[in-house]
Amino acid sequence: MDFTVQLQTYRQRIELALQTHLPSAETPPARLHAAMRYSLEAGGKRLRPVLVLAAADLFSAHSSASGPEADPLPAAVAIECIHTYSLIHDDLPCMDNDDLRRGRPTAHKQFDEATALLAGDALLTHAFWKLSAYASEPAIVAGLLAELGRAAGSEQLIGGQMEDLLAEKKSGVTTEELRSIHLKKTAAMISASLAMGGIVAQANPVEVETLRTIGRHLGLAFQIVDDLLDATADTATLGKTAGKDAKADKTTYVKLYGLAASRQLAREQNDAALAAIALLPGNTSFLVALVQTIAARTN
Ligand code: IPE
Ligand code: IPE
Ligand code: MG
Ligand code: MG
Ligand code: MG
Repeated sequence: MDFTVQLQTYRQRIELALQTHLPSAETPPARLHAAMRYSLEAGGKRLRPVLVLAAADLFSAHSSASGPEADPLPAAVAIECIHTYSLIHDDLPCMDNDDLRRGRPTAHKQFDEATALLAGDALLTHAFWKLSAYASEPAIVAGLLAELGRAAGSEQLIGGQMEDLLAEKKSGVTTEELRSIHLKKTAAMISASLAMGGIVAQANPVEVETLRTIGRHLGLAFQIVDDLLDATADTATLGKTAGKDAKADKTTYVKLYGLAASRQLAREQNDAALAAIALLPGNTSFLVALVQTIAARTN
């Protein structure tokens, strides 16, 4: 299938699954559920759940496992819930203090800080609840819990967010420290997305580790491009306020390396992701094309 059509198909499945797997906006307390849906339904690129589905497809065609194939959609919903919660909290006044996200006022602007905080908490919790969909497959549920719990926890996503704030306005942050922050706050969840797709489709441990490696490179490239776009793109295209990193004196790739060297570093990470994809079985053309679009993305 053509890349664009395949991407569209994945996104449609994800949108439908998000609708079905989230409590309705009228479910009491309606304000909380409306806030959860407000941020989730604003869209976004859906990169992480697309990676779950793409990795699962790759291995379901090749898996030697017997029995019916598990549905990757609950895992895809779980990862997008955690990602969206991380954005809601990232935008809070006590963090990056942003007014615009996914082309809309941020959750705390649209509702209030307490509601945004609770909507984030609820999306995080909801994600782990969704993984109970795999309860009849203990190996899958255990693998997914370990993968998601580790990536979203204090040593990866949340730890990276902590270090990102500590590095703000700090002079002397080294390139190695910045790379470590980007690996934690962004690459860990992208790596987990690919690994979770593999786990659902019962890829073997070596294959799951290759998926993690691809995700680490892709995730690093993704956050370097995010830093570049903050410095070079406009707010309307981004759907979030441009130029915020320099204003907050954030330590970013652009600040430490400048634009040209950051672009080169993003390219190198993309190439490393492509080299690791070449180790996977089956038809990897969708993943290859996805990596290439991420390098060239404008939002
Ligand atoms: C934004 O992620 C936060 C970063 C890790 C840079 P995305 O750029 O994937 O945001 P959405 O999901 O498309 O809104
Ligand atoms: C945050 O990075 C990554 C998260 C884990 C939320 P940024 O703070 O650069 O993300 P944006 O630019 O606000 O989307
Ligand atoms: Mg941030
Ligand atoms: Mg931010
Ligand atoms: Mg950013």
